[in-house]
Amino acid sequence: MSYSEMKGRTLVISGGTRGIGKAIVYDFAKQGVNIAFTYNSNQEIAENQVKDLEEKFGIKARTYALNILEPDSYKDLFKLIDEDFDRVDYFISNAIISGRPVAGGYTRFMKLRPRGINNIFTATVNAFVIGSQEAAKRMQKVGGGSIVSLSSTGNLKYIEYYAGHGTAKAAVEAMARYAATELGEFNIRVNVVSGGPIETDALRAFKNYEEVRDETAKLSPLNRMGQPTDLSGACLFVCSDRASWMTGHTLLIDGGTTFK
Ligand SMILES: NC(=O)c1ccc[n+]([C@@H]2O[C@H](COP(=O)([O-])OP(=O)(O)OC[C@H]3O[C@@H](n4cnc5c(N)ncnc54)[C@H](OP(=O)(O)O)[C@@H]3O)[C@@H](O)[C@H]2O)c1
Repeated sequence: MSYSEMKGRTLVISGGTRGIGKAIVYDFAKQGVNIAFTYNSNQEIAENQVKDLEEKFGIKARTYALNILEPDSYKDLFKLIDEDFDRVDYFISNAIISGRPVAGGYTRFMKLRPRGINNIFTATVNAFVIGSQEAAKRMQKVGGGSIVSLSSTGNLKYIEYYAGHGTAKAAVEAMARYAATELGEFNIRVNVVSGGPIETDALRAFKNYEEVRDETAKLSPLNRMGQPTDLSGACLFVCSDRASWMTGHTLLIDGGTTFK
């Protein structure tokens, strides 16, 4: 499939250093898209990735620090991006928190605590809202664009300890439909790419990672876990003109696991 119209356009993506975000960064760069991606803790990895992207694909790449627990910091981030790039065409809200901030959120129902739930909601929903608002202002100046949030089938199907994340993902999917409805007049499409379990650091941090991995491979008619590139191709398609009438939609990429 040709994505030639994407060449020379700009992608802004949160969490481009690892897992699904990294796969998205490389898939877009391969199409000649310039990339502004964020990191949180892995500055060195991010800076090496900038060099690698520019050398391999001849595009412009820049990286910026971002903490999605402070969604308003997106405003300053986009001001920095304005200095480096003359347009924003695509925004992908991908980053996810893990470790200490999810304590009381990544747990069983009876152990949920407001602080943990709020952190996950802030990092998932509020960050999507503020990032998308800033992106949409720039997209309006170039006649349109495409916004994507990552989501997870853990909002449709029970995953142990996933109550905080699953409900925040359900909320971000609903928020994306609202955004799509109000941004359509500016030719801005807003969609969600929702994945079944994908082999990344976030999943490896699950208390029951091995169980989820084995169960996913067993449930999938394709007999395997999802890999980051299984979702990045969907993000590329959704942002491209091939998906020009797709908006307010959640595209499920789950290896056939949700039905079973
Ligand atoms: N893995 C799955 O099974 C799966 C399935 C469906 C959907 N998803 C969704 O896909 C997205 C990416 O997940 P992943 O599995 O690829 O995650 P991952 O491998 O754990 O990568 C997380 C990314 O987020 C960044 N990050 C971490 N804490 C941050 C913070 N406080 N502020 C800003 N950025 C932060 C990390 O940057 P540093 O490297 O600098 O720390 C990294 O780039 C998430 O929205 C997730 O819910 C995942």
